[in-house]
Amino acid sequence: MTIPTSAPVLVIGAGIMGAGIAQVAAQSGHPVFLFDTREGAAATARDKLGATLQSLVAKGRLEAAAAEAALARVQPVGTLAEAASAALVVEAIVENLEAKRGLFRELEGVVAQDAVLATNTSSISVTAIANGLKHPGRLVGMHFFNPVPLMKLVEVVSGLATDCAVADAVFKLARAWGKVPVHARSTPGFIVNRIARPYYAETLQLLLERAAEPAVLDACLRAAGFRMGPCELMDLIGHDTNFSVTCSVYEANFQDKRYVPSLVQREMVDGGLLGRKSGQGFYRYAEGAGVPALTAFEPAAAPAAQEVVLHGQGPLADRLATALSGRSFERDAGSGWTGLSVDGAVLRLTDGRTATAQGADVAVFDLPLHPGPGGGEPGMALAYAVSDRISPAWAEAAPLWLRAAGFHAQKVADAPGLVVARTIAMLINEASDAVHQGVCDEAGADAAMKLGVNYPAGPFEWLARWDAAAVIDLLDALDASYRGERYRVSPGLRRRG
Ligand code: NAI
Repeated sequence: MTIPTSAPVLVIGAGIMGAGIAQVAAQSGHPVFLFDTREGAAATARDKLGATLQSLVAKGRLEAAAAEAALARVQPVGTLAEAASAALVVEAIVENLEAKRGLFRELEGVVAQDAVLATNTSSISVTAIANGLKHPGRLVGMHFFNPVPLMKLVEVVSGLATDCAVADAVFKLARAWGKVPVHARSTPGFIVNRIARPYYAETLQLLLERAAEPAVLDACLRAAGFRMGPCELMDLIGHDTNFSVTCSVYEANFQDKRYVPSLVQREMVDGGLLGRKSGQGFYRYAEGAGVPALTAFEPAAAPAAQEVVLHGQGPLADRLATALSGRSFERDAGSGWTGLSVDGAVLRLTDGRTATAQGADVAVFDLPLHPGPGGGEPGMALAYAVSDRISPAWAEAAPLWLRAAGFHAQKVADAPGLVVARTIAMLINEASDAVHQGVCDEAGADAAMKLGVNYPAGPFEWLARWDAAAVIDLLDALDASYRGERYRVSPGLRRRG
């Protein structure tokens, strides 16, 4: 089964998503019918599309003739019957199960029996939308991301009844539209909205525990390669939207504690602190403020010490060695952990246990994840924490060693797995669970997270660079610390350890 790019497409819902889908379909060569129940909405969307295409021409990104031809292909219609020749219908109406079901039932009486029906739903089960249709096999999810013309990812979502040939045809079509399609099974949140939950949830948990300020958490995750930290990103998305997606994934999973929403976010929603759109979220935007910068990084010389041992091997150990240049030290490459012991005190990479659980003069630091050697260029923010029983001398010296190695050491509370390590471990765990449950394959999960939410790498790419046993140990340590369902290791990940 193939849907040619000359086939008529009907887009229903001329809102933000429908307009974008109509643009992409028209630019790919399809005649496009655009329908919306709101009086004049389809015509307005077409006018706006004309302006958008003209601005692309002005920027030299589109030929004038191509813009004109694309716009000419878009025809607002006042009734569904006028679009009866459509070979593909893409629905982007209000996010409501009954509205979508009713629309598709109506469409069965309008379009040909072999026309493909696609829904752009972001949170409703494709299986549930298809229930009650005469031919449920032809209904498939075609989940675009906003803004549609720019975002490459399309999740092609199969419900219980979806015909494989239909999913494959939509997959091929999305590719012809210049998108990167990924197959997904209809499960709560599909791929991106499910796997991304821990990116917000771990930061919200740390905020709940008052482990660090939002600006510190954001800086640490930006240093790990994310374009935006979780707090600034939640402020941009809007806390109402983000909270409602979290609640829907939580409810749809029968209140699995892994997805439990955060009190921190609910309080912000209750208080009207919705983020950028309301002028304040974690940060204030009203006076042109925004995310406060950290204090500037100042390199430090490593403190004086009698006996220093560098533990571990690899890029991180090599980077720590830079702090030791010009002085004599021992190297224990086979000790099984990475860090320094300095006159009996310890500074080590987190393994998920708190510093306090490991002794008195212990400091732990976060996973330096930046793709640069051993954690990126000097000045990258990196969280560290110290034992509750640390001596004043080591409390002062430990961050100096990190600074001497070029890390912009950020003190946070002694929370298990610190900031980046626990977040990445949970993202890997969620992705492993999705694959374990057949929601998508590993390549699909990686592509979806890189293209749908601009992650610097996919969860399985992180896993390949880290180590499954270490990720499992870290999650088990979190599980031991919090005791609940949230940090349980996916059987799919456990099997790799
Ligand atoms: P929107 O509110 O901008 O547009 C929805 C449009 O559908 C409105 O113009 C409305 O008049 C029209 N409409 C409502 N009921 C209708 C019906 N029965 N028949 C015809 N037209 C109808 O909403 P938006 O953001 O474009 O979302 C549309 C769909 O896309 C939803 O299912 C949403 O969950 C999904 N989605 C939204 C994303 C986003 O970032 N906004 C991302 C991915 C999916």
